[in-house]
Parts: sequence; structure tokens; C-alpha cells
Amino acid sequence: MYNEDIFNSSTIEGMLAAPGRKWHRYPPDVIPLWIADPDFPTAPGIRKVIQQAIDDEDFLYSDNTKVRNILAEKIATKNGLQVSKDEVILTNGVEPALWLALKYSCKPGDEVVITDPSYNEFKKIIEASDCKVKYWKLDFKNRYKHDSEELKKIITNKTKLIINCNPSNPTGRVLNSEELKGLADIAIDKKITVVSDELWEDILFDDRKHITLASLNPEISDQTITAWGFSKTWGVAGLQSGYCTSTNKDIISELKKIGTGIIQGVNNIALRAIPVMVDRHSDYWKRDMMKHLHYIRDLCYKRFEEMGSVEAPELQGTYLMFPKFNYGLKSIELEKMFLEQGKVALSPGTNFGPNGEYHMRIQIGTSEEIIGEGLNRIESCLKTLKK
Ligand SMILES: Cc1ncc(COP(=O)(O)O)c(C=O)c1O
Repeated sequence: MYNEDIFNSSTIEGMLAAPGRKWHRYPPDVIPLWIADPDFPTAPGIRKVIQQAIDDEDFLYSDNTKVRNILAEKIATKNGLQVSKDEVILTNGVEPALWLALKYSCKPGDEVVITDPSYNEFKKIIEASDCKVKYWKLDFKNRYKHDSEELKKIITNKTKLIINCNPSNPTGRVLNSEELKGLADIAIDKKITVVSDELWEDILFDDRKHITLASLNPEISDQTITAWGFSKTWGVAGLQSGYCTSTNKDIISELKKIGTGIIQGVNNIALRAIPVMVDRHSDYWKRDMMKHLHYIRDLCYKRFEEMGSVEAPELQGTYLMFPKFNYGLKSIELEKMFLEQGKVALSPGTNFGPNGEYHMRIQIGTSEEIIGEGLNRIESCLKTLKK
């Protein structure tokens, strides 16, 4: 089977028989398009090394030097940041890196900038540290362009951190160099630390290129912490593995200090899988997945257009669509209708900020069979509204 077919092979029956929260949160007659987990098989190279780890009984305290070396090399070649293994911190996914950045830069009462809309966990992490969310409003009509003039307006002397998310969950925007430069110039001018969440760096449409914020110039590099992970490209969220870095050695030393006793690196199974996931011999898997995702994205565009009052902005990156439903129903009402009447689970847009009102986030990293069934159910619900 050619790999594009592998990405199109998931069935409802097969997914219901497999583990994972996504397909088991709701009753089995619901199509789950809510959480950002894909329905793709695990790459054979990953399965092989994990099985080998079990055969080797690789369960003692480990040495992660080799993996940090490999990641430092990846960061230099792919992201354009010159760091050594000692400046690479392994984390249990991307979220602990965001937490570290917050603890490093803020004290209770300080302000943290996130876009509206943005990934829902950002707000939770900020508020759990008794800091204040400052929303950088993005305009849907302007395809969620990051307008630095808007950013300038919300910065105060209490703003200590900006969270940059590129490619962006849930808007699917990939920031261009002009937008990144706008953000960087303000952060440098106002001396604000930036944490750049680049987890989705591989999921890019239409030959777009990912630009790492910190690679723009030495000034922004010096005040930025960049975080990456594996969960989205490889469908391995359960391995809970990620990493972060900064070219600023003082920042790295502080992050290590803050994380002592808490940030323990990643487990031995992930240490086996990481070299496979960053190896260029695995690039074929990403390439074939993107071919399939282009097909599914275009199918979704077509179906949304046929539905009538659904506006789906161009998806530039991620496998998350964020269409607006112009039916006068709020996101929460739409969620209820789709779930109870249509038996399809989507994430309400307001989970991602007030500006997500009337939108729903739809995870499209699946087969044509599953997304087709989900879209049929969405369409059936919308037809009842028109009557
Ligand atoms: C932008 C973004 N950051 C972080 C995460 C969480 O990633 P991880 O599971 O690697 O912590 C997600 C998950 O969807 C995400 O979309």
C-alpha cells in the first residue's frame, strides 16, 4: 500500500476498537472531530524501536545525551538556531516548556499576551499562575493576520511575556516574515520575553515555509524560548515528549533551575522514538501525510461551500479548520446541536477566546470515510436550521 493510502485507511470501526481519549469520550455513535489527535497509523520506524526498547528491557535510569545532541543538530539545520546539547531541555510535551517560560518571566499579577483566538491551554496556564491574559485580537476577515499595531496597543509595563504560536492552533495561520518581524520588533523594544510554540512546524500547506521566530535576528533570539514536540506530526501525544531551547545561556540556566525536581526529561520509550522522528529518512512519512491532508482540506473547502452559510478561511498550517457558521447560533449552541442531533463532536470556537464566537474547530487529520461522515452530519444539522 502506498503511504497516501495508509493515511486514508482509518475506519470508524477500527478507531472505536483502538485506544485513545478521542474516540471514547462520547458514545460510539458519535464521530469525534474535537481533540487535535489524528486518526493515522504510527510510522513503522517508531513502532520498531519502541518494540526493541521493550525487548531490551530499557527501563533503568537513562542517558539522554545522544538525543539532546540529535535535537541540537536538528535545531541548527531546520530552525537556524546554533545551540549545543546543553541548551536543549527535554520536556513532557510542549506544555511544560510554556509553563517554564511563564515561571521564568512572570510573577503573579503580570500580563501575558496571547492571540484571540488561541490554543485553549495557554489561558489556563497563565491563570493558574495568577497572571493576567491580554488578548491580541486577530481579525477573521483579514485571515487572522497578526497586526503588530494591535499588539502595540495592549502592551503595558506589566506585560512580561508574549506567547507566539506558529503555525497557529486554532486559526491555521502560518505567520510570514513580516508578521514575525512586527512581533519581534515590539518584544525587543519593550524588552518582553517571548515563548514560541512551534509544535505544528511540519504541517504546512501549499509549499509554505516555517520560519522560527528566534532565527530572525540575535536580539529576538536572545529573549526567546522556543518549544517543539512530536505529537502533531507523528500522532504520538501519548509519548508526552517535547523539547525547548534558547540561545541565551542565562535563560537556559534559569529554566533548568526552575524545573529542578519537576521537569525530568522524557521517558526511555520516547528516547528511542525521537531519533527516528527527526531522522531525514522519516521525511517520506511527513511528505505522504501532507499529500493526504491537502486532499482532505480541499474536500472540506468544497463541502463547506456547498453547505451555504459556512465561511472556512484558508488553511495554511495544522490539521485544524476553524470555520464560521453564520446561522445566528453561538458556538456553545452549535456544539450542542451537532453533538445531540448530529452525533458529531466539534470544539466550540469560544474555547479559544471570545473572538472564536460562531466558529467551531474541526480536526481534519483523518480518512475520507471519517471526515465525510462527519461533514454529512454537520450538513444535515444545518439543513434543519434553514427550514
Ligand atoms: C499549539 C499547541 N501547543 C501545545 C499543544 C500540546 O502539545 P503537547 O501534547 O506536546 O504538550 C497543542 C496540542 O494540541 C497545541 O496545539
